[in-house]
Amino acid sequence: MTGRPLVQVLIASTRPNRAGEPTARWVAEQAAAGGAFDVEVVDLAEIDLPMLAEPGHPSERNYQMPSTRAFSEVIDRAEAYVFVMPEYNHSYNAALKNALDHLFWEWRGKPVILVSYGGVAAGARAAAALGPVLISLQLSVVGFVPIPLIDQHLHLHDGRRLFRPTEPIEHSLAKALDALHRAVQPRTV
Ligand SMILES: Cc1cc2nc3c(=O)[nH]c(=O)nc-3n(C[C@H](O)[C@H](O)[C@H](O)COP(=O)(O)O)c2cc1C
Repeated sequence: MTGRPLVQVLIASTRPNRAGEPTARWVAEQAAAGGAFDVEVVDLAEIDLPMLAEPGHPSERNYQMPSTRAFSEVIDRAEAYVFVMPEYNHSYNAALKNALDHLFWEWRGKPVILVSYGGVAAGARAAAALGPVLISLQLSVVGFVPIPLIDQHLHLHDGRRLFRPTEPIEHSLAKALDALHRAVQPRTV
């Protein structure tokens, strides 16, 4: 226990060679650099949830499947989230919806930053489409970092793909992380 709030950076894309992995790694580094948070990366490709097959509604929290129980434990321990999410066919990706649908209480009432990416539209349509889902789960969006033309930000370094931000993107994430920090601090007045 460090006393710092735990932020999970969730990699929504599950594809091989996804842009989401280097992008999320950069986001996690930025979140950790300020020293205000403990940071954990949650990779939906590693979590590998099946399509939702629980007999009960997630709000009953009566999970039958070991995969749901394990995912519940992971998500429950965070105070806040950053979703690093691609745009697929003008919306968010199916793996993200499936992960969100698996749980309820674990997400409820917590703040989230959306880091969306894609082509010229920067994943903005994906983020907009996610809005009603987040309302249903009572997740509060406190920051939005749209990244246009994601391929142009990815560079090979020592055989690894790295995300290289522009200054506005870096500034936008810093502002969003500030808002996330304020959202997890108890009010004193
Ligand atoms: C199934 C599919 C649909 C896509 N649809 C869109 C789209 O509607 N808008 C967009 O800007 N990019 C779209 N793209 C391009 C993705 O944003 C781009 O490939 C990005 O790298 C995907 O993220 P990922 O590599 O982390 O999976 C699509 C890509 C895929 C695989």
